[in-house]
Amino acid sequence: MKPLSYVLGLLASQQPVGYQNLSDFEKLWSGYDVKTAPVTKVVEPAPIPTSQLIPPPNMPPFENPLTLPSDFVWGVASSAYQIEGAAKDEGRGPSIWDTLAHKTDLIKNHDTGDVACNHYYLYKEDTQRLKAMGVPYYSFSISWSRVLPYGKGKINKAGLQHYIDEVDYLLENGIEPIVTLFHWDYPQALQDLYGGFVDERAVNDFVDYAEIMFEALGSKVKKWYTFNEPQVFCMHMKVVSKTARKEIPMFGNTPDEVYMKCVHNFHLAHAKAVEVFREKFGRDNDYTISYKNAFASVRPLTESAEDRQAAERYLAFAQGWFTDPIYLNGEYPEAVWEAFGDKGLREFTEEEKKLIIDSADHFAWDGYSGQPVKAPDGGIAACIANEKHPRWPECAVLVDQVEGDWMRGAKSSDDTPWLRNTPQFFREGVMQIWKKFKTDIVIAEVGTSIYNEQKLSIADARYDSDRVEYYHAYLREVLKLVNEYNVPVKGFVAWSIYDNFEWFVGYDVRFGIQYVDYETQKRYFKKSFFYLRDFFNHYIANY
Ligand code: GAL
Repeated sequence: MKPLSYVLGLLASQQPVGYQNLSDFEKLWSGYDVKTAPVTKVVEPAPIPTSQLIPPPNMPPFENPLTLPSDFVWGVASSAYQIEGAAKDEGRGPSIWDTLAHKTDLIKNHDTGDVACNHYYLYKEDTQRLKAMGVPYYSFSISWSRVLPYGKGKINKAGLQHYIDEVDYLLENGIEPIVTLFHWDYPQALQDLYGGFVDERAVNDFVDYAEIMFEALGSKVKKWYTFNEPQVFCMHMKVVSKTARKEIPMFGNTPDEVYMKCVHNFHLAHAKAVEVFREKFGRDNDYTISYKNAFASVRPLTESAEDRQAAERYLAFAQGWFTDPIYLNGEYPEAVWEAFGDKGLREFTEEEKKLIIDSADHFAWDGYSGQPVKAPDGGIAACIANEKHPRWPECAVLVDQVEGDWMRGAKSSDDTPWLRNTPQFFREGVMQIWKKFKTDIVIAEVGTSIYNEQKLSIADARYDSDRVEYYHAYLREVLKLVNEYNVPVKGFVAWSIYDNFEWFVGYDVRFGIQYVDYETQKRYFKKSFFYLRDFFNHYIANY
């Protein structure tokens, strides 16, 4: 293991790569009109008003005798760009998300993460609020370009120190950090240098960055994720690489060659970072590393062979492409080969396979929602044979609401059409993962937006009964999975700690279990937060 002096040495000596002097930092940021918050110093926390801690009435009852194991992990989640703000402060470089927000028209209302929830300066208050609610785990991500403004090379001392301070503060307050290295905010300097994760140089740059973070935080942080949802990030690469169709990014968008290269490099970057991690910290102890998966849990709309095939194809592309090499055999699914075999898809070498297979300690799933799947009009075979077909290569259509069916709850919001309350799909999704991969499962993110919540007053938004109903439904499935089906679900992390910048839909959608008043930067516990607290207090044995 490299000693701490390795990081300190890097801090002292490294020069920016490709940028020659200080004013290059300004060059990095040219053309971004970055806003700053009124508060730009770390704030000592004020006591939480006791009125905020009064629990709401009319909670669903906890009546059954089931339990969760005493080491069950429950927590709340966030990600750097969505909450930190301080976009250009203390030496942070821009990421592709600063660019999407500032230099394209793709984000609703032209919202940006410039200020967001100002967590960079308010992290102490945010920690105290978690402590007051008895939250044992906080899952958050590091901004890569805060630590390495140029993506590689020169370390930004202030940025790295910030994360060391935040981790120390969490631990002092009895909250265990879960750290994700990379939650979509890829350094813009690397995007400019070689086009981002489509280029194989991205692999080693990620591993170098990971090593810096393992070195800096590894003595304190035991639970790590390399990537958040490469399924979605690689779609962003496609958007950033300007090959996307003019649809709303992510919805109805399909994989192409940019995506294919990005997925390949994800596998190598993840596996090599995990190799470094295990060399440093060993295995079979309480250190864990994995990555977070995003896919819908699906079932065929009808029993027809075509619909069944469509559901299988959806899973091959959205799940298997990412999971099979890691959890099974180092190989991509057949359907992926058929689609991209003649387009430069590479097989992993034997050496790469060795690294990739078993490079995750559990299966982390962000299982927000599920959907029926059907074959496209005109049939599956015609779609597979036609690369110009709008559904190619999956050739699977996610179905929204089916008349007369009670399986999917009401629309979560106009801007999150992919998300409905679907507890039965959730249970089936976990069962499918368990049957196929036979590994521990952590629900690394789930949560919901609520129809028109952004239009409510603070007092009304706090009364988020629809969100309570969502969590209640999913958590009852977790209880059943653990107690009746004996599935090793080891954790459940709620998205999100509070309302925040929701990517392409900006601040117009709220996912928080705390309300954020963006004008005052005050936070308010919502009913759902009390529900989660009470649920886990009730069910985790000896909690
Ligand atoms: C996840 C993502 C989060 C958050 C959430 C709600 O896929 O990791 O960053 O945005 O969805 O949409």
